[in-house]
Amino acid sequence: MTATHRIRVGGVHAYDIVIAPGAHAQLSDAQWPIKAKQLLLVSDTNVAPIYAATVQAQLQSAGYEVSLHVIEAGEQSKNLASFESVIQSLAAMGARRDACIVALGGGVVGDLAGFAAACWMRGIHFVQLPTSLLAMVDSSVGGKTGIDIPAGKNLLGAFHFPRAVVIDPEVLTTLPLRERAAGFAEVIKYGALGDAGFFTWLESQASALCALEPIATARAIAACCQMKADIVEADPFERGKRALLNFGHTFGHAIEAAQAFGGLNHGEAVAIGMCCAAKLSESLFGAPVQDRQRLERLLAQFALPTRIPAELDPAKLLAHMRLDKKADRNGLRFIVWDGIGQARIAEGIADADVLEAMKAD
Ligand SMILES: NC(=O)c1ccc[n+]([C@@H]2O[C@H](COP(=O)([O-])OP(=O)(O)OC[C@H]3O[C@@H](n4cnc5c(N)ncnc54)[C@H](O)[C@@H]3O)[C@@H](O)[C@H]2O)c1
Repeated sequence: MTATHRIRVGGVHAYDIVIAPGAHAQLSDAQWPIKAKQLLLVSDTNVAPIYAATVQAQLQSAGYEVSLHVIEAGEQSKNLASFESVIQSLAAMGARRDACIVALGGGVVGDLAGFAAACWMRGIHFVQLPTSLLAMVDSSVGGKTGIDIPAGKNLLGAFHFPRAVVIDPEVLTTLPLRERAAGFAEVIKYGALGDAGFFTWLESQASALCALEPIATARAIAACCQMKADIVEADPFERGKRALLNFGHTFGHAIEAAQAFGGLNHGEAVAIGMCCAAKLSESLFGAPVQDRQRLERLLAQFALPTRIPAELDPAKLLAHMRLDKKADRNGLRFIVWDGIGQARIAEGIADADVLEAMKAD
């Protein structure tokens, strides 16, 4: 069993995802299909002090001209001001059409840097070196880039596909534990929505994964990337199947919004959201209660919450769901399941059913 994986994301904008322990400390031509000579390495104030120098030195010794741009860590940096600052760095280095942005960080850095790459001279190349588990299994794959504006999260953005994604699971050792757990919520989501075998494997490997055992961790990341790659390839612009990746997200976003994005983090909110979606599926479609219980047990093994915090009023959460971009004029749209590994879209769900699914048992 190896800890190195290579996944091809097909389609018009095909690229490879390489997963290899130590990869960020030994970037090779095989992982790096970039001809550009000018690189802008974008990172944040938590990640750059630990990893940027190694990455920058390697790229410089390979003959690239590398500038470094560091943003303040955190979601509040995924904004217009940071976007402008990245653009100014590109201007200051005299970035040409063949320049490339390298995103070294979590989803915030990846989304922001990718959006800057999408806009500079109508689109230059970019490479993702994701450092959070969420970025490895979700945000770095699939080409969604963007920033938040005061009117809402991710409202300004573009589809812009990376030229390559290089994942080094060893960097997860420095990721704060709560962020790590949040990433595992997304990992579990893949099994829950589309792969019962993977879900069962996660149940058997929970301790190894919590300890970041290298072979199991790389395998879990690879399985998620493969599943996301397959879904994105079939539906690059989210017109159908890609929506399944939002399992748990309608409830989750409402929780995050109700706490003004200052309470539970995204992964924690999605964990609760998946349990609510499973409950909704039980009452509406007779989905098996045992499958929800397995989901709750697995989430708990990764120290993730499974119940809506008592102080949050379900009626207020419902109001937030109505504002979510996944709501349409036919009523609320949810990703439900018929059991582990069998998610599907359900539309026109009545408010009373949604409220019931959010009630404590
Ligand atoms: N583009 C997409 O398809 C997509 C999908 C899901 C989420 N997202 C976006 O991703 C963002 C969330 O991503 P995130 O959870 O990675 O958040 P993040 O980028 O804020 O990273 C979380 C925290 O961990 C730190 N960090 C990251 N890697 C580290 C490491 N190896 N060692 C030490 N610290 C490290 C960061 O500095 C930050 O403080 C949100 O803005 C969300 O909208 C995008």
